[in-house]
Amino acid sequence: MTKAIILSGGWATRLRPLTCSIPKPLMPVVNKPIIERQMILLKSAGVKEIVLAVSVMANEIRNYFKEGEKLGVKIRYTNEKHPMGTAGAIKLAESYLNNDNFFMLNGDVILNFNFSDMLKFHESLGGIGTIASKIVEDPSRYGVLITDEKTNQLLKFLEKEEYKPPGGEYVPMPINAGVYILEPEIFSYIPPNHKVSIEKDIFPKVATNMKLFHYPIKGIWKDIGKPYELLQGNILLMTDILRNLKVKRNNLIDNSVDIDASTDIIPPCTIGENSVIRKQCRIGPNVIIGDNVYIDSNSEIKQSLIYNESYISKNAKIVNAIISDNCYINDNVIMQGKGEDLVLLASYVEILKNIKLIAQPNRPISFCHHELVKESIE
Ligand code: GDD
Ligand code: MG
Repeated sequence: MTKAIILSGGWATRLRPLTCSIPKPLMPVVNKPIIERQMILLKSAGVKEIVLAVSVMANEIRNYFKEGEKLGVKIRYTNEKHPMGTAGAIKLAESYLNNDNFFMLNGDVILNFNFSDMLKFHESLGGIGTIASKIVEDPSRYGVLITDEKTNQLLKFLEKEEYKPPGGEYVPMPINAGVYILEPEIFSYIPPNHKVSIEKDIFPKVATNMKLFHYPIKGIWKDIGKPYELLQGNILLMTDILRNLKVKRNNLIDNSVDIDASTDIIPPCTIGENSVIRKQCRIGPNVIIGDNVYIDSNSEIKQSLIYNESYISKNAKIVNAIISDNCYINDNVIMQGKGEDLVLLASYVEILKNIKLIAQPNRPISFCHHELVKESIE
């Protein structure tokens, strides 16, 4: 029976300050932690047992998923005292994963594609591993795959910085999407008790033996390396979920939500359980609001994420922002990101009334958890 392991460690420095209070694997994507979304896809492919390879903020992740009772899968955890690298981390689960093929996922990619189809593809080819691939415009930040177009065989695996484009200019290429199906034979390539990278130390070797294939993803994929990508990935997944609904809807609004009749919701938007939106607001497009959020009258929100339990008072104007859980925004606050430079609030930030936070190109604005914001930034 196919099992799975999700890499749920790493420091996620580029997502700070959001990741100071929420571990990256628990970062909400359309109101569910990113790895919970992955687990739902795994479950749909028949996976019933999942190992979480945790390291940084391991306790928060354990407390959230426990043994998987809520999701209906069996969840186990590895005991990784120091970060062991992507291959070192899975080596710790060898005795548990060595009786059949298994999925291995980077826990920081937003996905929506058919995992059963990938499994069938892998089993039909007989390789040691199949790597899901996606063609991207700028492959410089990813592992690059040099492939045989006819056989789908992987000729070379070049982790970022190891790929030098001919002529010096990057062109669209298939890259490593961070989703693999591996046979237990992979463990014979990984030395025990060492920090080992699957991308740098293992895949290049297995590729030389012509034992790897790639599977082009037919669906969505987005890595959440940076805050702007987290915002975009949320919007991408929301749009994809809406597109695939059997009964057409413009928004994903929970039945328990209380929205005043004078408020406009401009699709696509998501609003979680028990949230309240008062009079004369304009919400959307591209807004995702979590559970138990309160938005007072005459507020305008566009292109932003608001996590659970936050309170937004009257006359707020919020554009291109990510507001973590339990934030408190007083009256008449303006928060405006600019393009990729967002306004970011970690958990429990309070913003006093009449404050303006206006980001400028290359000058994003962010506040760490529990900060009290008393002065405007323009
Ligand atoms: N348990 C554990 N221990 N997890 C780890 C460790 C570790 O020592 N190091 C990294 N991880 C986890 C991260 O949390 C993340 O989920 C995943 O492994 C990949 O690590 P990143 O640090 O996010 O790597 P990246 O994004 O620069 O590159 C990787 O992902 C790209 C796709 O998003 C590589 O796999 C690239 O080849 C790939 O293209
Ligand atoms: Mg990553």
